[in-house]
Amino acid sequence: MRIDGAVALITGASTGIGAAIAVDLARRGAHVLLVARNAEALEERVADIRGRGGRADSFTADVGDQEQVAALGAAVREQVGVPDVVVNNAGAGRWLYLDETEPSELETMTAVPYTAALLVTREFLPDMLARRSGWIVTINSPVSRMTWPGATGYAGARWALRGLTAALRQDLRGTGVGVSEVVPGKVLSDYFANNPGAEDRIPKIDALMPAQTPEQVAAAVALAVARERREVLLPWPLKVADLAGRFTPRLLEKVVALTGHRR
Ligand SMILES: NC(=O)c1ccc[n+]([C@@H]2O[C@H](COP(=O)([O-])OP(=O)(O)OC[C@H]3O[C@@H](n4cnc5c(N)ncnc54)[C@H](OP(=O)(O)O)[C@@H]3O)[C@@H](O)[C@H]2O)c1
Repeated sequence: MRIDGAVALITGASTGIGAAIAVDLARRGAHVLLVARNAEALEERVADIRGRGGRADSFTADVGDQEQVAALGAAVREQVGVPDVVVNNAGAGRWLYLDETEPSELETMTAVPYTAALLVTREFLPDMLARRSGWIVTINSPVSRMTWPGATGYAGARWALRGLTAALRQDLRGTGVGVSEVVPGKVLSDYFANNPGAEDRIPKIDALMPAQTPEQVAAAVALAVARERREVLLPWPLKVADLAGRFTPRLLEKVVALTGHRR
């Protein structure tokens, strides 16, 4: 899909990976629509992109909430039009064992990313299908390829997101609408500050995978959209781990367990 001239909506764009994706796509000529809950942070991002000569607008919404996503859809259609690209990036969730997690926290860590990706994609899909063009990107975690201990709700939501991506890929065959999944290893964003304790539970196998910057992930998203790639994993050792998991799943499971958190 051509990025130059496209309208690209990015969830979770007030900070971290989403903010970098917005800057990158705007630099490549897209009109970017930044969505998150923190209106002030969004406005700062929009001003920054406009200051660099890009086209950007912000929309404040909790993307895990049905009514707010419906209102977001109406506002986007009225003010800008149907997005050509939707990047489902908003995500949160501490890494906790199931018995450590309060039900309310299980709900929020499922709402973003999983429910949000369902709702936001559903909101814009009919227009994309009618137009027979569109591209959907999901940003996922390596836990959807190599499950580690001590992050039950987080892992379940990311496997659900992977399932959603696979289901959409099947549903959308031949419709002109496509889907990519971008899976970065550890990224140097505020994720671990925003979700305390998670960093201590990264399995030691992660030492083989250099941390990525949000800008590197943003470049991977642009590549996925421009070349219509079904899947982009980065850095390359993560691709190797993913391949190993496909051929020898139990071996990878054991290595991750041995290098992962224990209580
Ligand atoms: N950092 C990593 O190492 C890493 C690695 C692989 C995958 N990922 C995934 O990439 C995604 C983004 O992570 P990040 O590192 O950029 O994290 P981050 O810096 O914590 O940013 C999270 C973004 O999501 C938004 N958000 C959270 N809940 C929301 C809600 N209910 N509605 C709307 N927006 C919401 C936040 O904005 P507001 O607070 O303003 O709403 C923020 O913009 C997550 O799904 C994460 O799991 C991260």
